[in-house]
Amino acid sequence: MNEQSPRKRPAKPYRRPKKDPVRILAFEALRAVDERDAYANLVLPPLLRKAREKEGFEPRDAALATELVYGTLRRQGTYDAIIAACIDRPLREVDPPVLDVLSLGAHQLLGTRIPPHAAVSATVELARVVLGDGRAKFVNAVLRRITAHDLDGWLEKVAPPYEDDPEAHLAVVHSHPRWIVSALWDALGGGRAGIEDLLEADNERPEVTLVARPGRATTEELLAVLGEDSALPGRWSPHAVRLAEGGEPGALEAVREGRAGVQDEGSQLVALALADVPLDGPDTRWLDGCAGPGGKAALLGALAAERGAALLASEKQPHRARLVERALAGNPGPYQVIAADGTRPPWREGSFDRVLVDVPCTGLGALRRRPEARWRRRPEDVPGFAPLQRDLLREALRAVRVGGVVGYATCSPHPAETKAVVDDVLKREGVSAEWIDARPHMQGVPALGDGPDVQLWPHLHGTDAMYLALLRRTG
Ligand SMILES: C[S@@+](CC[C@H](N)C(=O)[O-])C[C@H]1O[C@@H](n2cnc3c(N)ncnc32)[C@H](O)[C@@H]1O
Repeated sequence: MNEQSPRKRPAKPYRRPKKDPVRILAFEALRAVDERDAYANLVLPPLLRKAREKEGFEPRDAALATELVYGTLRRQGTYDAIIAACIDRPLREVDPPVLDVLSLGAHQLLGTRIPPHAAVSATVELARVVLGDGRAKFVNAVLRRITAHDLDGWLEKVAPPYEDDPEAHLAVVHSHPRWIVSALWDALGGGRAGIEDLLEADNERPEVTLVARPGRATTEELLAVLGEDSALPGRWSPHAVRLAEGGEPGALEAVREGRAGVQDEGSQLVALALADVPLDGPDTRWLDGCAGPGGKAALLGALAAERGAALLASEKQPHRARLVERALAGNPGPYQVIAADGTRPPWREGSFDRVLVDVPCTGLGALRRRPEARWRRRPEDVPGFAPLQRDLLREALRAVRVGGVVGYATCSPHPAETKAVVDDVLKREGVSAEWIDARPHMQGVPALGDGPDVQLWPHLHGTDAMYLALLRRTG
């Protein structure tokens, strides 16, 4: 009798992995953000353009790739906690490219309506392409564990109970670093509902808002071109138009001609409030001391032109000053753009009637726009900005004439970047100024607090969390 060799299962024929251009592109974008500290909003557009030209990407492919990148980055804190619960080694020992694939898979499973089997198989195919078959098996095993629960089920398992540690709970559930939860909560005050709404608002894609620059375009014109299905009037700014999802600002002639632009309503309100304060005496010389890239300068320039005032737009970085030039091109009134350091300014004391300083800051009020920003910022960045913020405000107060008005703005609600800076400058810097109540200069905007300064919020106003203090120089 012939000894038969044990029967071997026939080896599965090798199958090439399926290449899915949308997921490969999303992976490449995540790697660029991780490896090169790139910004998602700068990395994605050229990748999408190339994919449109070379791979025939349709708008819906671009929309899916964008959602996968932005959603994965925003929810990274939550997904990290869930992935950590599905593997038996510390997360930091997982190779970053593997973690990116796992996070992309977790987002498809827990944050989109993609059916679970499709999410797993598409992600495993991606892993085979970009990581190789060995690591794809690991990805497959982890993703199958993730499918055991939906998002709420996972949060119950991995988030510490609110009662034990409210900030740690909110950090995992709403995917923010704990120190940012703490800072935002300090700035907002109040109980659990408010901070939860704010953190969730950071996880939503902001709608695109346009400004019709006064004297150059009207909201009626923009609304008529866009049609009522594609746009709505702004909530607060009389010059704002809100685009429906998928609206393409670049398609509008008024935007291409610079008569209108993309600008958050909070930024519009800041410029409008500064222009709204009544002044005794002349009102002909306006300064924007931190103008780049030029959004507020373009609105101020248009408002100044309507009143026969001239705008000087100053910006330290020459390349950003060039962006300001572009934003102001075609402004109907007199203006000048210069590259200058606002802490050692070239202008003489008392040269201006109105001055805006929209100072560099941590950007904690615009987290919804930069999905990776919350993971890059460090607590020590906050005090790092303070000396520059103080110097810029002090010089702004010197630049304005006695009786003139200064607007100090940040796109961070962190108290150390807002009120503390203003209080400090008023106390120490030897320029006499008094607070102006900013609230009456944002007419019709609710929930502006006790004044005299104003803090806008994404969850209350639908704007970035812009801060504005208005000050009148008194001596
Ligand atoms: C928050 S951004 C201003 C945004 C601008 N107001 C807008 O609405 O488009 C702050 C700007 O201040 C500039 N900046 C930083 N340090 C400066 C300084 N010492 N003097 C003047 N500008 C400065 C930055 O380069 C940046 O463009």
